[in-house]
Amino acid sequence: MRVLGIETSCDETGVAVYDSQQGLLADCLFSQTEVHAKYGGIVPELASRDHIRKTLPMIREVLALASTEIHELEGIAYTAGPGLMGALLVGASLGRALGMSLDIPSIGVHHMEGHLLAPMLEADPPQFPFVALLVSGGHTQLVEVKGIGLYRMLGESLDDAAGEAFDKVGKMLGLAYPGGPRVAALAVSGTHGRFTFPRPMTNRPGLEFSFSGLKTAVRNTLAEQAALSTAGVVDEQTKADVACAFEEAVVQTLVIKCRRALEATGMKSLVIAGGVSANRRLREVLQEMVDKQRSRLFYAQNRFCTDNGAMIAYAGCQRLMAGQHDDLQIITRARWPLESLPPLTLDTARSQE
Ligand code: KG4
Ligand code: ZN
Repeated sequence: MRVLGIETSCDETGVAVYDSQQGLLADCLFSQTEVHAKYGGIVPELASRDHIRKTLPMIREVLALASTEIHELEGIAYTAGPGLMGALLVGASLGRALGMSLDIPSIGVHHMEGHLLAPMLEADPPQFPFVALLVSGGHTQLVEVKGIGLYRMLGESLDDAAGEAFDKVGKMLGLAYPGGPRVAALAVSGTHGRFTFPRPMTNRPGLEFSFSGLKTAVRNTLAEQAALSTAGVVDEQTKADVACAFEEAVVQTLVIKCRRALEATGMKSLVIAGGVSANRRLREVLQEMVDKQRSRLFYAQNRFCTDNGAMIAYAGCQRLMAGQHDDLQIITRARWPLESLPPLTLDTARSQE
């Protein structure tokens, strides 16, 4: 089955063509970073307007790259949530309209299921069951995954998501949005051990996360350092040292919880997905941990860790092949619990739910 995937849930327009026999045929991505840069965060209305401008031309482009005529498509998958309502509606209406005009099934995909399944696009994909750590700008979740749609939430963040904490700390350090990759790059020149930040919620049992206290600790340290300096500003090396200590605190916290989740479930495979799974230090420390546990670590290549159309095309294709599809209504959801998704074996259209 050949499926077009459309991702417009936030500030990236992503489209891709995935074929169940031949794999990923092509994908295109446009990041709106520059559109939002001067506001220091995403402006939802600007995001929607830019998706309107970009999505259709990008669909034409990706079809050409995939050497696919539009009539050769057999299904359409679009992100239906969670995300920004206006932004989601652009991809959903376009996807739904294309499906209707081509008379092929279409399906609304859960954005986090897309992330979770992205490592399946790699040459050596994980096998079910596994534990998944979903770490993006909006979510930090540990999930037991027994199959597509067979999800049990093991723990999640009680406040900020890991990516959100990276972005906020980036802002404090004077870095452009999104801060995550920039904080990680700055941390490379930091001195390990000059500062130490708390590893939130690790000294008690459980698999929940909390990153807002860590963010406050960073803010206080930067204020102290500014007060100590004669010029009243934090020098570049100190910023790098703070970035390094912050990254280490997030990484160690995530690693401790992942180890606990593997132990609690008895599973031997750990999948990390979402933007923060592109973090090199996180991958490095997790690899050491899984090696000790005689387990395996899986993640997608960097461009499929952050938002993209390929993961939506892949996830949608699996569900469409199982006979699931949406009815005539266009349903998008700002919030959408991952655990509410139907398993693949439930061979019914969502319209019959
Ligand atoms: O999955 P994603 O593209 O979008 C959401 O679904 O939220 O994740 C974006 C998040 C941002 O917070 C970004 O700063 C973070 O992922 N991120 C990183 C890195 N690359 C992206 N955080 C830390 N280190 C990175 N290398
Ligand atoms: Zn995402």
